[in-house]
Amino acid sequence: MHALLILLLPGLLSLWRALASPLVDFQVAQPLTLPQDAKQCTVAILQRTFASSYGSPEVVQYTPPTDCGPAGSWAGISLNFTVTSNGTQYDRLGIFTFDNVEIWRTSTPEPTRGDGIVWTALKDVTRFTPLFAKAGTFVLELDNIVETGLDGEYATTLHATFYQSSAKHPPGQHADLIIPVTTLAADSGDVASVPSAFSLNVTFPRNAAAIYAEIIPSGNGQEEFWSMNVPNEYFGALPSGATYGDGPFRETRLFVDGLLAGVVFPYLVVFTGGIAPTLWRPIAAYAALDLPAYNIDLTPFVPMLSDGKPHNITLDIVSAEGDHAINQNWYVTASLHVVLDPSNKATTGAMTVYSAPLYASTSTTGKINGPGDVDFTVRASRNIHIEAEVVTGSGKSTYVVWTQSLSYENTQTYRQSASVQTLYQIAQGNMSSTHNGAEAIVDDFSFPFTMDFTYTDANWTTWITSVDHSYTRDLLSAPFMTRTNIQERQQANAFFELAPTGNFGNGTSSNTFSYSDAKGNTYTRTAASVNSTIVSDHEGGTLAAASPRPASSPADSDTQTGFARPRLPGRSAR
Ligand SMILES: *[C@@H]1O[C@H](CO)[C@@H](O)[C@H](O)[C@H]1NC(C)=O
Ligand SMILES: *[C@@H]1O[C@H](CO)[C@@H](O)[C@H](O)[C@H]1NC(C)=O
Ligand SMILES: *[C@@H]1O[C@H](CO)[C@@H](O)[C@H](O)[C@H]1NC(C)=O
Ligand SMILES: *[C@@H]1O[C@H](CO)[C@@H](O)[C@H](O)[C@H]1NC(C)=O
Ligand SMILES: *[C@@H]1O[C@H](CO)[C@@H](O)[C@H](O)[C@H]1NC(C)=O
Ligand SMILES: *[C@@H]1O[C@H](CO)[C@@H](O)[C@H](O)[C@H]1NC(C)=O
Ligand SMILES: *[C@@H]1O[C@H](CO)[C@@H](O)[C@H](O)[C@H]1NC(C)=O
Ligand SMILES: *[C@@H]1O[C@H](CO)[C@@H](O)[C@H](O)[C@H]1NC(C)=O
Repeated sequence: MHALLILLLPGLLSLWRALASPLVDFQVAQPLTLPQDAKQCTVAILQRTFASSYGSPEVVQYTPPTDCGPAGSWAGISLNFTVTSNGTQYDRLGIFTFDNVEIWRTSTPEPTRGDGIVWTALKDVTRFTPLFAKAGTFVLELDNIVETGLDGEYATTLHATFYQSSAKHPPGQHADLIIPVTTLAADSGDVASVPSAFSLNVTFPRNAAAIYAEIIPSGNGQEEFWSMNVPNEYFGALPSGATYGDGPFRETRLFVDGLLAGVVFPYLVVFTGGIAPTLWRPIAAYAALDLPAYNIDLTPFVPMLSDGKPHNITLDIVSAEGDHAINQNWYVTASLHVVLDPSNKATTGAMTVYSAPLYASTSTTGKINGPGDVDFTVRASRNIHIEAEVVTGSGKSTYVVWTQSLSYENTQTYRQSASVQTLYQIAQGNMSSTHNGAEAIVDDFSFPFTMDFTYTDANWTTWITSVDHSYTRDLLSAPFMTRTNIQERQQANAFFELAPTGNFGNGTSSNTFSYSDAKGNTYTRTAASVNSTIVSDHEGGTLAAASPRPASSPADSDTQTGFARPRLPGRSAR
């Protein structure tokens, strides 16, 4: 190369870099539904660059703002989590807790080097108003590792916006008290690691009228791809390192004093380094930036829990294996949203119907055709039915009916020494709680997930994959929440190669999202990407123009190289 050009090149490159912009990652979601015409107060909660941050979360003291009306009287509260990163790094789990209550579980899009990445995730946290109304301790645990070959740091900021209430915009609705079911550690994200089961003694106010549990479970480590784990009876037919055992069925169970109160058949959240990073760039898999929460009505247990004594709340996760074992590990928490009776007198009453088998009904069928050549199907179903009469100190009698009807199926095939793999999983069901006939919880959901995966070389260093998955959910998570209906489908294809000079790949993604709610808000978004660049993006519905949403990426020169090693079943390299 000509000497002058060599001298000029670094200058030209830095000029080009200054002009280029970072890739904007996002997850499709409805915009905030909070009143944009209300007076707003935005406060910085925390700012932190997470480098080598294992065991070192950000812990800050929060005080409520005073300029948007009396603390707790707000029409709503939202959080804005904005992050930049540049380098090579895994996706990482982020856990926000406030006074030991988990309020948001997120994960980080994987960065690449050069222009880096940026993303903004917004979340409505109005239901946590009882926490935000008082000074407290706010924690973000984001365990990152920086070492040779992994240099991506996550530079984060978290803002909270408070919307002033008025005659036009009444105060947001929420429970009176929120009780954490977490490790209660003062200096961490407080998530319990299961197995083994996690138990906590909780003493409830004697005048509780209703209690709604909100549970957040997520698979991690050997359980990150829990849907692709193999029943132990077929595990031996696969080459070592292909995947993990203990089967693909998982349910989260919540017990009150040893009595099963309800279960969760979770949605499979794929993080942005999962299967092939180029599947999820820049459009993350649904829920990767806002992991789903699930609700169980504990109101039938209120007569038992109102005696002023400690009660044992237990969370665990079990499989369809004979011993119900799972691998390491899941992170799980619950928050208990308690509605109080104004009387200050003890609630009484009785459970009248209790039908809740300890385990789901499950079956596993399949066949081993030869080494590395296996087919199987795991099915599970469940019915829970609990009724109770709850009589509060002020004399109000409420008849509660809580039911869950859930089904699950997982079919996997492995061919050609397990180098060709397919998965079809669907979890679906109907949950309902009524209080004197009025709906308190509704959760009708369907979570189908299809994956094809083929290694295209003998050394398992290049592969092609496609994923087609949906999140369909009609949800009323508590009577003080707004009923929402979400229908999301993402179809993505990718090629990926592990290379000593930098892992690289390409891919396409197509997303169709629609949202509606009981307040009449609607929103649709269809977005597609090719090779990390958005090629189409259309919004519609009442929320499309009215509310802010994170901008999507300009077409840019994303490198698609320098990714961290993707995480695959059985081959996780954290
Ligand atoms: C990203 O980091 C690299 C060094 O690893 C640097 O050369 C580049 O300028 C950085 N990009 C931005 C946008 O800061
Ligand atoms: C819960 O409280 C009971 C006494 O009511 C005690 O025996 C038990 O050890 C406590 N359990 C935990 C996990 O603290
Ligand atoms: C709490 O309940 C769980 C599940 O029923 C049980 O395994 C555990 O031993 C109980 N813990 C205490 C301290 O009573
Ligand atoms: C849920 O309800 C729908 C109709 O309301 C029904 O078709 C479906 O089978 C139910 N699902 C389960 C798992 O019970
Ligand atoms: C597979 O790995 C072996 C040993 O590392 C190497 O000799 C061979 O060339 C590789 N084959 C392919 C197709 O990459
Ligand atoms: C996507 O990138 C790959 C290189 O990884 C390239 O071969 C392909 O042509 C690109 N596709 C499009 C549509 O630009
Ligand atoms: C990705 O790259 C592979 C191999 O270069 C190519 O066959 C494929 O068409 C590319 N995919 C896209 C979406 O461009
Ligand atoms: C979120 O915060 C970032 C700064 O941290 C800001 O640039 C952006 O405008 C905010 N987005 C919304 C919708 O408030």
